[in-house]
Amino acid sequence: MHVLSADPFTTPEMAEIFEQADDFQKRLQNREGKREIYSTHIGEQIGSIFYEPSTRTKGSFEIAAMKLGMGVFQTENAGEFSSISKGETIEDSVRVLGSYGLAAIVMRTKEEGLVARAASASPVPVINGGDGKGEHPTQALLDAYTIRNEFDRLDGLKVVMGGDLSRGRTVKSLSRLLAKYPNNEITYVSIPELQIDAHTKSVLDAHDTPHHETSDMYEALHEADVVYWTRLQTERSLKGLPEDLEEILEAMKKDSIIMHPLPRIGEIKKEVDADPRARYFQQAENGLYVRMALLDRAVSSKQG
Ligand code: CP
Repeated sequence: MHVLSADPFTTPEMAEIFEQADDFQKRLQNREGKREIYSTHIGEQIGSIFYEPSTRTKGSFEIAAMKLGMGVFQTENAGEFSSISKGETIEDSVRVLGSYGLAAIVMRTKEEGLVARAASASPVPVINGGDGKGEHPTQALLDAYTIRNEFDRLDGLKVVMGGDLSRGRTVKSLSRLLAKYPNNEITYVSIPELQIDAHTKSVLDAHDTPHHETSDMYEALHEADVVYWTRLQTERSLKGLPEDLEEILEAMKKDSIIMHPLPRIGEIKKEVDADPRARYFQQAENGLYVRMALLDRAVSSKQG
């Protein structure tokens, strides 16, 4: 019932979620569709508990809930403004909030594995909105949705992931999803200190998904369908990225796309936004539709 990792999602389940997201996107275009959607889950509420800052995940989940007619109980900066600051355990906290009849709890924590701990004590579905350096499964779903919308498939793609890969949770979850589809190939571009973790590579190996590591981004970019860049995780303290992305746009295929989970902190300059391959704002918008689908499924499963 919980969404803690990208691992449990099957390709048919993802296809269903994406079809639902398509449907929500379409119906939101007109007043009648918006009204219909709004009546879907009136009387339900979600909890939105964030121990780390967020614009997209928190914003899109809460707006998704509101568009579905649901109420939102939210705690921003939960480490300071909830009883966790008095020493309460996350398990007790979630157990109590769940007992108030929430349909689901969306949670972001600073520490890897903490959302799973909360889920273990929760009477309602818990959705991982990012747990430290761990995973960000709903980001990966919206990323996969964006790729599927662009190429009409999620297999046979050459994907380059670059930037801070060791601490970036989005690349770990997206790699796990892409490994479920045949004939994908992933090239990780970073400096050795920031390269992808061994566990993600072992998941790719288990799915026979070829993967490579390089610090020569030009070599990887020529054939890439998708270039997925990530930011320097300054809040997790380390040094800079290899190069600015706009310097390598020249090397990319004309029909490739450039993605970024955002926020960007200078690794993609504003001038790149006008490049026809830029998809990061569409990607962020897609988060709303995918998260509406996820909340709809969570509430429907609770109602049985
Ligand atoms: N991509 C993402 O998780 O953004 P936020 O940190 O703003 O939620």
